[in-house]
Amino acid sequence: SGSYKNILVEKKGDKSQVGFVRLNRPKALNSLCDDLLRELNVAFREFDADPSVKAIVLTGSSKAFAAGADIKEMQPKTYSTVFGTNFINDWTEMLRIRKPIIAAVNGYALGGGCELAMMCDIIYAGDSAKFAQPEIRLGTIPGAGGTQRLPRAVGKSKAMEMCLTGDMITAKEAESAGLVSKVVPADKLEAAALDLAERISRMSLMAIYAAKESVNAAYEAPLSQGLLLERRLFHASFGTRDRSEGMSAFTEKRAAEFKDE
Ligand code: CAA
Repeated sequence: SGSYKNILVEKKGDKSQVGFVRLNRPKALNSLCDDLLRELNVAFREFDADPSVKAIVLTGSSKAFAAGADIKEMQPKTYSTVFGTNFINDWTEMLRIRKPIIAAVNGYALGGGCELAMMCDIIYAGDSAKFAQPEIRLGTIPGAGGTQRLPRAVGKSKAMEMCLTGDMITAKEAESAGLVSKVVPADKLEAAALDLAERISRMSLMAIYAAKESVNAAYEAPLSQGLLLERRLFHASFGTRDRSEGMSAFTEKRAAEFKDE
């Protein structure tokens, strides 16, 4: 829909099967104001409901993926406003999206920008990307998962250092620490993220949903429950047409033709 003010939304890929969202609030380095989050949630929900879309790419500009929550919008807020409205709770809506979301990060991913990237399923970075949780420099702390997802991604020592100093880490450091899965030259980033989304889109949507749900359980559940969910989703895949097709195609030495059934 063309009614967005803070994001650009289109479909890309050889079959228009990739939902592509660009954060587009250049005058504030894509800082994440309330309006932007509202629009982002609508765009994600529409792609999730669109049967022609199988994966989503989220990116920003070459200068900034997102420079955090909007500090100017937050500055006048009081404790009772933020607590009373459960401020930034709407950021978690994207966790209900079932299709994979790939963050393609060029430039700054700071504070809420780093947290937004970490709420995506996969992060690719351009070689000049910079990640930080600088909230402590504003007299506050991360509020959208930074103190929780960063330790899981990069370990306690580095996460603690980042949250206590606000220091930035480079794309290379982020890759070696496990925060991002690939670093590419900045001008190749969108193509790389799109290629990844297209490759995922060739799989059965049934298996894509199951894989995302199961990997996410590794974050949330004790190992025994995660393993049980995985086993049951694995069993459930035997009820799909695409699992039968995938194994037949292997046996017959041909490419599988998935129908998302
Ligand atoms: N909120 C609101 N406006 C922001 C912003 C933010 N997070 N980040 C940048 N901007 C605005 C600047 O105010 C500036 O606006 P004006 O032209 O009107 O002055 C414009 O974007 C360009 O920014 P700069 O002039 O600062 O650009 P720079 O290249 O000199 O510096 C930067 C870039 C290092 C990213 C710097 O802008 C910066 O430090 N930004 C703030 C980063 C930050 O602290 N993020 C954490 C926010 S708190 C949070 O996210 C809470 C949470 O956990 C949910």
